[in-house]
Amino acid sequence: MQRLLVTGGAGFIGSHIVDAALARGLDVAVLDDLSEGRREHVPHGVPLFVADVRDAHEVERVFREFRPEVVSHQAAQASVSVSVRDPLLDAEVNLIGGLNVLRAARDAGAQRVVFASSGGTVYGEVPEGHAALEDDPKRPISPYATSKLAFETYLETFRVQYGLPYVVLRYGNVYGPRQNPHGEAGVAAIFALRLLAGEPVRVNAARDGNPAGCVRDYVFVRDVARVNVTAALGELGGDVFNVGTGVGSTTRDVLDGLASALDVEARVTAGEYRAGDLQRCVLNVSRLRTQGQTFVSFEEGVRETAAWFREAGRPVTRFS
Ligand SMILES: NC(=O)c1ccc[n+]([C@@H]2O[C@H](COP(=O)([O-])OP(=O)(O)OC[C@H]3O[C@@H](n4cnc5c(N)ncnc54)[C@H](O)[C@@H]3O)[C@@H](O)[C@H]2O)c1
Repeated sequence: MQRLLVTGGAGFIGSHIVDAALARGLDVAVLDDLSEGRREHVPHGVPLFVADVRDAHEVERVFREFRPEVVSHQAAQASVSVSVRDPLLDAEVNLIGGLNVLRAARDAGAQRVVFASSGGTVYGEVPEGHAALEDDPKRPISPYATSKLAFETYLETFRVQYGLPYVVLRYGNVYGPRQNPHGEAGVAAIFALRLLAGEPVRVNAARDGNPAGCVRDYVFVRDVARVNVTAALGELGGDVFNVGTGVGSTTRDVLDGLASALDVEARVTAGEYRAGDLQRCVLNVSRLRTQGQTFVSFEEGVRETAAWFREAGRPVTRFS
């Protein structure tokens, strides 16, 4: 049985990776500082090391104790707007913290590191009619996107220098049960919580003034978790993959889907364009599809997300 350490495993995506890994029979542990993650997201019996990735000694201690063979690195400063306000904090967690994890993985002789990168931000604006390919030019416009991209380069450097293999997964906008409203793409969680509370919902316009908002590639969290575990087990042929659906949806589409699934009337207010938001990002996912990966439809994923928020009532409850 392989030992998998999931950093950020008490968070939204990380906790689904833990579930998927347990289902595949892996021996799993979580490293998380619980700044955004929740203890109750970690299943009973899974060791939770409460540690900050910025603390090199703590990270080394966790690796000495658990001796992971594979690392799924999800822990991050995961907010684009925080990174714009505080680029140093972003770099401390996403670069220095990430390097602490990489160094410990190298020293522990780990077989592989899987990294949560961001297809939604590293390519910059994706023009109408195009879906971003893995080899397309990168045009990060936020410190968050830059730190994700820089860490991808560190992974390649560690592979060349120290022989540490990696898989980079560039996620689209991930949504689903247990979503944290503060993360990179918290819009589905924010909308679900506001709709259930009967509060008005603001849809920010796209940069071109379109009141339906920006276009994004929304991907269901359980599909993302499955791809992560497949990558962790060395079952993906390749080292960089977009993880999305190849389908673009507007912010308004997300709202309408959730309102209809929750059977509530949305009170919509029109928001202004939010500086820094990309107008459009859709990912080409043919590389992942050739590996046999399939994805639930947006309608199905939104239905399940709505059902979870209705049952759980709040985003912090473990419910699956
Ligand atoms: N949600 C998305 O749509 C999306 C899209 C692209 C990439 N990502 C990336 O996926 C990963 C998971 O994101 P998420 O949406 O689950 O967010 P999340 O905030 O729910 O999960 C991140 C986890 O990392 C932990 N963490 C934060 N700082 C830490 C630190 N210094 N030390 C240890 N743990 C720390 C948090 O407590 C949290 O549990 C992140 O790397 C994020 O950048 C997310």
